[in-house]
Amino acid sequence: MKSPILETEHYLIRPFKESDAELWQKWDVDEAVQEHMPEPMNESQDIAGQYAYIKECEADEEGRYWSIETKTGETIGTVALTDINEYHKIAEIGIVIGDKTWWGKGAATEVVRAIVDYAFDTLGLMRVSAEAEAGNIGIAKVLEGVGFTQDGLFVSARVKKGVRINVKHYGIMNRQSTS
Ligand SMILES: CC(C)(COP(=O)(O)OP(=O)(O)OC[C@H]1O[C@@H](n2cnc3c(N)ncnc32)[C@H](O)[C@@H]1OP(=O)(O)O)[C@@H](O)C(=O)NCCC(=O)NCCS
Repeated sequence: MKSPILETEHYLIRPFKESDAELWQKWDVDEAVQEHMPEPMNESQDIAGQYAYIKECEADEEGRYWSIETKTGETIGTVALTDINEYHKIAEIGIVIGDKTWWGKGAATEVVRAIVDYAFDTLGLMRVSAEAEAGNIGIAKVLEGVGFTQDGLFVSARVKKGVRINVKHYGIMNRQSTS
């Protein structure tokens, strides 16, 4: 489903465009950006593969996918709500600030807060979940800053550089909703 445009104080959260794909090719092979991703250091896909991915995202009825743009028009990352389940009223959130010059400036916190608000206020969801590798201090601080609490630990759930690591599971509830 095509994702709506959302606006926060400092960012425009907009549907993917084909011109985003060249940035993804860089971010996909950036060791620092990929360090805590589930499948780090992917091969950079060819551009046709990236365009096909955009079409897949637009066709995904259970997902909303966006690029994050500054108010001056710089595209700095992506964010997604996936596995949206309308019966259970739940979804998963994931975010990548691919442009490292924007790290530590509050972008992820502002964007995650806006997507959680969209999930609760527009989609009527009850719960949003997220995962954070045990060593990913940044995303843990982002999630906790927005109001997520850790509600689980997947022990030895991933392999990183040959070592099994834990993955923290987080959730935030929509306290306004009663159904
Ligand atoms: C993790 C990530 C999303 C954080 O984005 P960001 O825009 O830098 O986060 P914010 O600026 O909103 O930071 C929120 C807080 O976390 C802190 N923080 C951010 N990155 C940090 C890091 N690597 N180490 C320690 N603290 C960090 C910030 O200083 C800030 O602290 P404060 O609340 O005390 O001021 C970003 O580094 C990123 O995209 N990394 C690569 C992809 C990734 O790991 N995605 C998440 C896993 S799926």
